[in-house]
Amino acid sequence: MSNTNRRDFLGMSFAAVAAVGGAASLVGMKQAWDPLPSVLAAGFTTVDLAKINLVPGQPQTFKWRGKPIFILEKTADMEAYDGDLVVGDKRYTVAIGLCTHLGCIPAWKTDVWKCACHGGEFDATGKHTFGPPPKPLVTPPFSINGTVLTLGEEGSESKAMMAARA
Ligand code: FES
Repeated sequence: MSNTNRRDFLGMSFAAVAAVGGAASLVGMKQAWDPLPSVLAAGFTTVDLAKINLVPGQPQTFKWRGKPIFILEKTADMEAYDGDLVVGDKRYTVAIGLCTHLGCIPAWKTDVWKCACHGGEFDATGKHTFGPPPKPLVTPPFSINGTVLTLGEEGSESKAMMAARA
């Protein structure tokens, strides 16, 4: 074998080893950056509005990514609002249950959410009506398929509700 051929062979061998090593490190980096399956699963909470036995006018609190989520089926006397979720003939308020002042969790008192920290109040639509909160309760991202609400998966309904509350 001539020196030129030997040099070419060694050069190609080093290039091949470097290419395989580079590809293997890219695969390793991707695996390290991708969220774990458990993290992905924790990002979504599913609530079937037809199965949770909501009493109109009495909100229930669910948990999504560690945050409280208020779901209220509105009564006929409660104000209809562009920021409501409408499913069939029912209207719902869906909101992250954290006060928009400093993040306390407001409590439902008859027909409003009252924040014990500084006296803020939110009406049944989630709009701030009294005290220091500067804006309405925030709508979480969600999608709705029939009566099944998937928190964490942004759909057109939650985008419209967010826009109504902005
Ligand atoms: S944190 Fe709710 S009023 Fe201040």
